Amino acid sequence: MKSDEAADSDEVKSDERRDDTMTTQEVRSWTRVCTTTTIAPGEATVLDVDPPVALWNVDGEFYATDDTCTHEKYSLAESYLDGCIVECALHWAKFDLRTGESSGPPASGGLRTYPVLVDGDEIFVDLSSRTPR
Ligand code: FES
Repeated sequence: MKSDEAADSDEVKSDERRDDTMTTQEVRSWTRVCTTTTIAPGEATVLDVDPPVALWNVDGEFYATDDTCTHEKYSLAESYLDGCIVECALHWAKFDLRTGESSGPPASGGLRTYPVLVDGDEIFVDLSSRTPR
């Protein structure tokens, strides 16, 4: 599902927001993407960026990963979520939203993950700090 609200993101410069785990050397570039009520628990929304990023709500915890399966071009946000594990609806590859790791073939590798910050009811994602595949 795509969210109009998610598509209308506001970029926030890194000096304005910092997460609790940052050291003084880390600088984040947070982009406001939506509110906590935009995504129901057990659902995801796709951020309109390139490559597409899926933002997941797992019982009130939010995770951001690549949206496209590493096996073939298929949206994981359109797949099955069981806790923090998403199972691709096309050929059943599984990925852990917390780490991006895959459980193996047919996935060709893991997903990139992105830092997420929840401030009140606003959700921010650092789209510039994705993990490598
Ligand atoms: S496209 Fe996802 S497992 Fe094949």
